[in-house]
Amino acid sequence: MSVRALMHTVHTRTASDGAGVRLRRSLGQTAAARLDPFLLLDEFASDNPDDYIAGFPAHPHRGFETLTYLIEGRMRHEDHLGHRGELVSGGAQWMSAGRGIIHSEMPLQERGRLHGFQLWINLPAREKMKPAAYRDITPDMIPEADLDGGAHVRLIAGRLELTEDESIVGPVRGLSTELWFVDIALLAGGRFEHHVNPGHNGLAYPFAGGIMVGPDENARLLGPQQAGILGDGDRVVLRAHAGPARCLLLAARPLNEPIVQHGPFVMNTQAEIEQAMRDFRLGALTDPPRQ
Ligand code: CO
Repeated sequence: MSVRALMHTVHTRTASDGAGVRLRRSLGQTAAARLDPFLLLDEFASDNPDDYIAGFPAHPHRGFETLTYLIEGRMRHEDHLGHRGELVSGGAQWMSAGRGIIHSEMPLQERGRLHGFQLWINLPAREKMKPAAYRDITPDMIPEADLDGGAHVRLIAGRLELTEDESIVGPVRGLSTELWFVDIALLAGGRFEHHVNPGHNGLAYPFAGGIMVGPDENARLLGPQQAGILGDGDRVVLRAHAGPARCLLLAARPLNEPIVQHGPFVMNTQAEIEQAMRDFRLGALTDPPRQ
C-alpha cells in the first residue's frame, strides 16, 4: 500500500469567461495544465453580482463532459433541445456534450453569493459523437456522511467505504472515466483517508483553508485555491492544516488519447476540430431540436 504524495501544484489564475464571469482557473489555463482526463477546473466565488451577473449565454460544446457543482447560489441552464434545469445550493449537473450541445448557464440571482465549480472531463474517442445527455442532481440526491477522523463528505461521483460493509455511491454514475468526485469538509485537526484506484489520476483542490497531502510523516502543504496533483498510489490521506478546511478530491481513469482543443470543442485530431467548426457554422453541430 502506498499513500499518494503531492507531486506538484497548479496555482489558479484569475480569468474571465462567458459574458464576463470572473473565475479562478487551475486545470485548463494552458494545454500543459491538464490532468488526463480532466481538461479544466474553474472555481467561481463572489459576493459581487458584477462578477457573475452576465453569466454564460448560449455557447456550444462538443467532445467532452462537464460537471457543475454549486456550493451556494442558483443557476439555470437551458439548451437548444428544450432541456431546462435549475442548479441550487449543494446541487450539481452532469452534462455529456457528445456530438454537440448549445446551451446557456445563467445566474438566477441578482445579489448574494454565487460559489461553485465547473469541471471538464474528456470523453474517449469512441464516445465523442454520442448524443448529448444530462443529469440534474438535486442536493438530496448527494449522499453525505461523517467519517471517523473528523471529515464530513458529500459524494457526487464514485464510491466511498464508510466501514467494512457499508459504503455510499454518488449520483453521477456510468462514466467510462470512472470519475470520483468528493467534497470533503475537515474539522480542525481532521483527517480523511481512503482507497483510490492505482493508475487513476488524482487531484485535491482546497477551497477553504489549507490541507496537508500525503503520508503523515512526509505530508506537504497545499494552500487554498490551488490544484494539487497527486502522485500514484492506492491510498489518499488529507489533513486539515490550521483550523478547518474544505476541499474537492477528484480522481479518474486517464484516456491516453491525443487531444486537440479549440475553445469549447475537444477532439482527437485537427480534422475533427475543423469538422466541428464547420458543423457549428452550418447549424449541424447538434442533434436536431425536439418538435
Ligand atoms: Co457550457
